[in-house]
Amino acid sequence: MRLDKFVADAAQLTRSAARGLIAKGRVTVNGQVCKKADYALKEGDSVCADGKSLASEEYVYIMLNKPAGVVSASTDGRDKTVVDLLGGAYPRRQLFPAGRLDKTSTGFVLLTDDGAFAHDILAPKRHVPKTYRVVLDAPVTPAMVEAFAAGVTLADGQTMQPALLIPDEADPFTATVVLRQGVYHQIKRMFGVLDVGVNGLHRTAIGGLALDESLAPGAWRLITPEEKALLQGSAEG
Ligand code: URA
Repeated sequence: MRLDKFVADAAQLTRSAARGLIAKGRVTVNGQVCKKADYALKEGDSVCADGKSLASEEYVYIMLNKPAGVVSASTDGRDKTVVDLLGGAYPRRQLFPAGRLDKTSTGFVLLTDDGAFAHDILAPKRHVPKTYRVVLDAPVTPAMVEAFAAGVTLADGQTMQPALLIPDEADPFTATVVLRQGVYHQIKRMFGVLDVGVNGLHRTAIGGLALDESLAPGAWRLITPEEKALLQGSAEG
């Protein structure tokens, strides 16, 4: 495929806007600036515009570091959404968050327009682990670790699947939690029945893919095919 068509398709630009970007030297192919709009791309070539990798695929997969105060939705009448944080990128795609984080929670949100992929990551029977850093209003005790491992029963009677709770060695008010299911407000409710408040909740990984810590709150980037494979490799069944 010609470079200008690829850039136009991937960055959702008109062909002439794509040519403008290429002429200004803002597009690289395999790390080298390429100013030839008719450059013939080969299989596996990696194209970036302004340092951001452009997806050649049918679907888009984005890793976003959600700041507090933003809702995990595509649109919202009142609050800023994770899709708003993309700043108008991919306007013709129906992007949505694959899995939610509470408005007050921060960290890794995966955005995509690939419904089947999102289903694979989210379906309870696929058991994709989600990892969180939590800051608590009480130190973690061995009894709490055991309760998480046994499966906490929420106030409404639902018993959660066993979960990992690992206190920080240096600070027992901070811990890592690993869940394999996604019940509404699950972590806050699990700690709630143990009379512990959650002051901070940050998702650090989905399956085998960790949040890129170089992404500032609110920043995002496309995930690489290798990272996508890491996510898919985490799904069971
Ligand atoms: N559990 C919660 O309570 N909140 C989140 O945002 C994620 C997991």
